[in-house]
Amino acid sequence: MKVKLLKWYDAKNYTFPWRNCNSPYKTWISEVMLQQTQVKTAIPYFNKWMDSFPNIQDVANAQIDTILKHWEGLGYYSRAHNIKKAAEIICNTMKGNFPSDKSLRSLPGIGDYMEGSIMSIAFNKPYPAIDGNVKRVFSRLLCENFNSSHEIKILKKYILSKIHKKRPGCFNQAIMDLGREICKPSSPLCSQCPINNNCIAYNSDLISKYPSKISKKQIPSFDVVVGFIINRNKKFLITKRPKNKMLGGLWELPGGKREKGEALKNSLVREMKEEINVDINIDRKIGMIQHSYSHMNIKLHGYVCNIKKGKIRKKECDDAKWINMNQIDDYTFPKASHKLFSIIKESYVN
Ligand code: ADE
Repeated sequence: MKVKLLKWYDAKNYTFPWRNCNSPYKTWISEVMLQQTQVKTAIPYFNKWMDSFPNIQDVANAQIDTILKHWEGLGYYSRAHNIKKAAEIICNTMKGNFPSDKSLRSLPGIGDYMEGSIMSIAFNKPYPAIDGNVKRVFSRLLCENFNSSHEIKILKKYILSKIHKKRPGCFNQAIMDLGREICKPSSPLCSQCPINNNCIAYNSDLISKYPSKISKKQIPSFDVVVGFIINRNKKFLITKRPKNKMLGGLWELPGGKREKGEALKNSLVREMKEEINVDINIDRKIGMIQHSYSHMNIKLHGYVCNIKKGKIRKKECDDAKWINMNQIDDYTFPKASHKLFSIIKESYVN
């Protein structure tokens, strides 16, 4: 199987900017990006990152705000925080040398998958690298499901027994390429698969049964209200989310979650008092957008408002700034904020 797979991999020769570059640093950054992000989305982010931070020391020296700006739109921002922390550890306690032994695992953000992908791709060591796509490929090949930690342990052992010992990184990446291009979640292109002879599901006409669907957990929905407070100079207020919270370090319009039974406008009045210590008047509704996070869906309601009473005091935010529309690009905002900004831009006279 591995010979056919690698022959296919070599013939396809997908040229990504992180391939064949002989740089553990580039492998690391690309693999962190690719953990939750599709290849085609990751490419421009990766190129921009490498332009701004050509080596690990540049990451260790950079401000976290600059790092977050480079991550804007990729989501799962803890990945960016972990990269920054790990770069500092590598530069300050490992003499800037990227670890190629057990100490790799001690770095923030390095779990099983990251360890396996870096060890195999950057250091040519026979480690499995199991992500969702790899699980799907082997689930079909073997007519097994790999969900529980026990099942994944079995899969690890299996991959270790099959991995190409001289080219383990290429073997892992070949499986990833196969999962993306051929063994797709729906309508896989089995007739073009280089290892369809080895695939038990294909040969038993069971492709549609593997991996078996696990019912998705219901995720909660929340209303979130935010205020677009405009001052005399036609600037509006943005606040910085506290470090230790979800989306920590990103900027947003001030506001927060509606509580059960609360009217939206009352939520906004309460949140403004709690977050920045001001009493507000609400002028009009801007609109509503919907956004999904991995663990919740939100409806984000925006209102134009003004300060009735009080001076801004940073109570539940790390910073606050008045900016104009042209300065949005100077700060990092969650996708949901950008969605609301596009509605505002349509109606806002600068
Ligand atoms: N997905 C995760 N890592 C990858 C890689 N190195 N190449 C292609 N797809 C990937």
